[in-house]
Amino acid sequence: MTRTTPEAERIVVVGAALFDGGRLLAARRSAPADLAGRWELPGGKVEAGERPEDALVRELREELGVDAEPVDRVPGTWPLRTPYVLHVWTARLRPGSPLPQPLQDHDELRWLTPDRIWEVDWLDQDVPAVREVAASIGRG
Ligand code: C5P
Repeated sequence: MTRTTPEAERIVVVGAALFDGGRLLAARRSAPADLAGRWELPGGKVEAGERPEDALVRELREELGVDAEPVDRVPGTWPLRTPYVLHVWTARLRPGSPLPQPLQDHDELRWLTPDRIWEVDWLDQDVPAVREVAASIGRG
């Protein structure tokens, strides 16, 4: 039987739909081994007492060396392995921020135009979130 993790026990992972000039940033994981080579929306776990927007800014700084500004929460909550769930925020680079660099957990980055979003092998669990992000671009 599958069990949904009660809301109070969930740990939120925030993923960034980082846009620049209408293109979406995808990051290829280099670790752990079972996720290596798959693409994701960069992000990570929200720490206890941390606001999700602050976690997003912190993770993008740690993982990609950029200064980003969260814009809006993309509607939806997607299950990862228990007790984690994925929330996504759109974000943009702050003026003067360097272009993202593959640093900690990623070995390649790609800016995807809307017609190329499905050309990378997204992590299974990111697919529904990316679908929602792609639809929101379409809605403008
Ligand atoms: O980066 P961090 O280790 O904090 O991510 C926490 C967990 O969330 C990892 O297991 C990672 O694979 C997962 N994750 C994900 N999709 C993302 C970002 C993180 O499944 N877009």
